[in-house]
Amino acid sequence: MKAIYPGTFDPITNGHLDVIVRASKMFENLLVGIGKNPRKTPLFGMMERFDMVQSLIKDMPNVVVVCFEGLLVNYARKMQVEVIVRGLRVYSDFETEFQMALANRTLAPEIETVFLTPRHEHSYISSSVVREVAAFKGNVANWVPDVVLIELNKKFQNKGEMPESG
Ligand code: COA
Repeated sequence: MKAIYPGTFDPITNGHLDVIVRASKMFENLLVGIGKNPRKTPLFGMMERFDMVQSLIKDMPNVVVVCFEGLLVNYARKMQVEVIVRGLRVYSDFETEFQMALANRTLAPEIETVFLTPRHEHSYISSSVVREVAAFKGNVANWVPDVVLIELNKKFQNKGEMPESG
């Protein structure tokens, strides 16, 4: 079975990675799909996010990272994906995820959405918390892989202000 784990991944965190590892054991092929959320202005460019994910999945033989534009379900159909994987961390994720899953099901009834929960110590991490703390030179080493830490340090070098992204 082929699945896609879509997200903005701005940047990828240990919580995302945890979901990727779990999903890679459940599906024969897993695409990590970096897409565009029209309500977000990412800190990292698409290729920067792609490279970070690529370096983390390089030793996972059934996982590939892709970038997609437009509707997720259109891309999923094009790639013959049968399952959309999303992470559910806390109760407050539920409403948005439920809405997204039902919208995607209406658009593409043949594609199922499944939810995976990351380890509880990752349940409070989000990319925006990581960006905010890193922007103020806080320590995010426990929340992101080393490759992301390096890229965050580069982004915020000599800067002590908030990123402009939402
Ligand atoms: N670990 C850490 N953080 C996690 C997480 C996990 N396991 N699971 C979710 N999150 C966080 C993310 O860090 C992100 O946090 P932030 O908003 O504070 O930065 C948040 O949960 C959700 O972001 P993400 O998972 O990246 O998804 P998204 O809501 O930005 O959606 C797409 C991204 C690409 C999947 C979505 O916009 C999409 O499908 N776009 C294509 C257009 C489309 O088809 N739209 C119709 C959708 S109904």
